[in-house]
Amino acid sequence: MSELREVIGALQGDADFKAEMRIARVFHETVGRDNDMHMIDVLASGVAHDFNNRLQTMASALSLMRVHVAAGRASDLGSLIEVAERSLVSAGKLAHRLMTVARKPVHQSDNLFQLNDALLSMSDLLRCVLGEGIVLRLALSDSETRIRCDSHLLECAIINLVMNSRDAMPLGGIITIETSKSHSPKGDDGQEYVSLCVTDSGCGITSDILEKIFEPFFTMKPQGVGTGLGLPMIHHFVDQARGHIEVHSMPQQGTCIKLYLPTAAES
Ligand SMILES: Nc1ncnc2c1ncn2[C@@H]1O[C@H](COP(=O)(O)OP(=O)(O)OP(=O)(O)O)[C@@H](O)[C@H]1O
Ligand SMILES: [Mg+2]
Repeated sequence: MSELREVIGALQGDADFKAEMRIARVFHETVGRDNDMHMIDVLASGVAHDFNNRLQTMASALSLMRVHVAAGRASDLGSLIEVAERSLVSAGKLAHRLMTVARKPVHQSDNLFQLNDALLSMSDLLRCVLGEGIVLRLALSDSETRIRCDSHLLECAIINLVMNSRDAMPLGGIITIETSKSHSPKGDDGQEYVSLCVTDSGCGITSDILEKIFEPFFTMKPQGVGTGLGLPMIHHFVDQARGHIEVHSMPQQGTCIKLYLPTAAES
């Protein structure tokens, strides 16, 4: 900033073209650096947010294990142990991401996999996140089309969507996760997509709130409950995967958030 002040001084004293060019360069560098730092701050907070989600899923699995052990239902423990282990592995990956986010903030892995398989493998974990009172329905397409993106970050995105739906239904309700093959929602761009739609029967979102929900740190939840980082993290992931997001919502009726992810070219 001191260089910027020095150039402003030079410009005020002697309006010379070279100084003007220099101020443009310095301003660009300073603002650019501030923007980069802001993006790193948001990303680091977002990764910490997803890490915390994983701690919550681990805590839910452990408390369910305690209930099952107390009731003598040892046969149900296997799937809960898997949920806790999966959460632990994910938390480890997120901790690593947190340590490297300032060095390579846009790095995402590239895995080739079927969306339906990913969802099926998460169903116990998602039921654990939801607890009692919320019914989870999976309506999976019969397509075996594969997508290419970071499967771990997709899992984090699905958990964020499902947690938002859960929070929108404090008295319980239904969450449906549907997959299908689609075209781009923005008109035909020559690319095929697989869509993942999470629909709930919750409180819905009013139109004035709808325009803000992807802003980092925007939340309607009480302080200490929501951080407003779930949807920005989903947006970042979908952007990196070259996909699209659509939100449809009706106050008092429910919300549907649809992710479009490009299908991988079959070789
Ligand atoms: N399914 C939904 N139904 C109703 N409102 C929603 C839904 N999903 C998101 N929202 C609204 O969007 C806001 C932002 O969501 P986001 O996931 O970014 O943050 P958050 O859920 O408030 O906080 P956190 O993710 O840290 O718990 C929410 O506070 C809520 O008002
Ligand atoms: Mg959220």
